[in-house]
Amino acid sequence: MFYSDKQRLAWAITGSGHYLRESLAILKTLDNVDVFLSKAAAEIIKQYGFQAQLDETKHKVYQDKTASSVPVELFYEGKYHTLVIAPATSNTIAKMAYGFSDSLVTNLYAQAGKTRVPSIVFACDTVPESGELSIFSEAPRDNIVKVYPRKIDLDNVAKLAVVEYTKIVESFQDLHQAVSTRLADVHSRSPE
Ligand SMILES: Cc1cc2nc3c(=O)[nH]c(=O)nc-3n(C[C@H](O)[C@H](O)[C@H](O)COP(=O)(O)O)c2cc1C
Repeated sequence: MFYSDKQRLAWAITGSGHYLRESLAILKTLDNVDVFLSKAAAEIIKQYGFQAQLDETKHKVYQDKTASSVPVELFYEGKYHTLVIAPATSNTIAKMAYGFSDSLVTNLYAQAGKTRVPSIVFACDTVPESGELSIFSEAPRDNIVKVYPRKIDLDNVAKLAVVEYTKIVESFQDLHQAVSTRLADVHSRSPE
């Protein structure tokens, strides 16, 4: 399969404080990206004081403002080669695992799958890190809180992992690696 050099990366951010800072840092290093925010993400970015970091990425930002998720038509136009959802909340993961498409981000994921565009989903706070059953998550104003993934959240990640055109990553390092590998693959298949 060949990719057009005009195709872009779609990056969706959901309302997760955990790994929001780090996801914005990766976004700043990338070109040819459009960013999509869930309604909660738009609030959380302001709550954490990260609006300037998002603005600094200089990417075009689409907000969740319409009932039918109008920006998903960009997927029908073949504008994107890949969808990244990072960070992904437990809420969005649950909805995607059960096939819901009732918000901008869940619609992007559904339409990516239906148009056979691969998605990389960063399930950042549902999987134990370092073998521990608890994780440390960033709260507003630089506070760190300990959270315990619930079985239902772990089950939803496992359910999502077997959906076609979906790659789940469970650590920031794996997210970085998966995005780099995918971009290298896309560029190697683009016509000169
Ligand atoms: C300060 C703050 C931090 C949050 N961090 C997380 C988080 O790390 N992970 C998560 O799953 N939900 C988190 N939430 C809850 C989500 O924002 C909430 O479930 C929201 O409905 C998710 O909507 P979305 O999935 O459409 O973005 C946080 C909420 C607040 C107010």
